[in-house]
Amino acid sequence: MLGISGSPRKNGNTDIIIREMLRGADDAGIKTELIFLRDYVITPCIGCEKCRKDKTCSQYNDGMNLLYPKIEAADHIILGSPVYHYNITSQMKSFIDRLYPYYIFSDDRPRRYQSRLADTKRSSLIFSICEQTDKKEEGFAIEAMSRPLEALSYHIWDTLPLCGFFEKGSILQDVTIMETAYKMGREFAAYQ
Ligand SMILES: Cc1cc2nc3c(=O)[nH]c(=O)nc-3n(C[C@H](O)[C@H](O)[C@H](O)COP(=O)(O)O)c2cc1C
Repeated sequence: MLGISGSPRKNGNTDIIIREMLRGADDAGIKTELIFLRDYVITPCIGCEKCRKDKTCSQYNDGMNLLYPKIEAADHIILGSPVYHYNITSQMKSFIDRLYPYYIFSDDRPRRYQSRLADTKRSSLIFSICEQTDKKEEGFAIEAMSRPLEALSYHIWDTLPLCGFFEKGSILQDVTIMETAYKMGREFAAYQ
């Protein structure tokens, strides 16, 4: 299972939740790895379309070259992002856009698409964390992560929008949410 944190804030709420989910998955006996996107240089996609021919990103030699093999190897992926202006962080957006080489497009217009990641059954658990408690303020962070993954043939196993957390690490005080995160990680690990 691959956990991917899109928070620029080290040891913040997103990191805490994703660690707890992976702890649950570890206890279920599966191999886990946690990636912090802030530790990688992920240059935003420029739409050069070189990946159509090359089947990988040949425009940039950056952190994505380290991440592509991990993505391909993982049948379970957790994506987590804080909400930034109703949306995901720019780190998470750049990461998702750089998954573009995995599409196979037809030659007609608009192009029909398939995913090279449909080679095996892949599923995903998606969560977001925001400060406000009004559901509207969470915006479209969950959709911004789940829809691209669905387009790339992932089954969205579950989603968890979390509201009401601002200070770094404040989510640790919420025992119920911490237990939910652990349980979700454990159950997601058992999902085939
Ligand atoms: C640039 C920026 C934009 C934000 N936008 C929103 C927002 O639109 N809605 C919201 O409820 N919280 C917003 N927040 C608050 C964060 O989502 C919140 O503090 C979250 O707990 C941060 O997660 P982290 O500790 O994993 O970084 C924003 C924070 C920053 C720094």
